[in-house]
Amino acid sequence: MAIEVDLERVVCRLSELGSGARGFTFGGGDWPLRGFVVRSGDTVRGYLNRCPHAGHPLDLLPQRFLTADGSLILCSSHGALFEKATGYCVAGPCMGRALTPLALQVKCGLVLLDDSVDVEALARAVSFE
Ligand code: FES
Repeated sequence: MAIEVDLERVVCRLSELGSGARGFTFGGGDWPLRGFVVRSGDTVRGYLNRCPHAGHPLDLLPQRFLTADGSLILCSSHGALFEKATGYCVAGPCMGRALTPLALQVKCGLVLLDDSVDVEALARAVSFE
């Protein structure tokens, strides 16, 4: 049985992720969707690349999403720290708030945005927050 993969929703190869994180942009124009994926144990989580503190992208230093030891997600702007598995902020100026999750699928060694994610609507909603 053939497995169908929507190539337009591919974020990266699972092997490219290693034990780290990787940012991505979907869509063009004025409102691309900016997100990142992160390995959390045996699973992969996806989040909007938008900090709940001040709305900045987390990777002020491009593609740097994790603390030096890789255990937590780091916002480089003001140092907020988030759990990889939940996106929950455990330290910093937005403690108690959380990153916005993005549903993912892993198929054929590829990490994809789930079909339930409306890329255009989400990107537009975020840009007007
Ligand atoms: S914008 Fe992320 S900690 Fe301030």
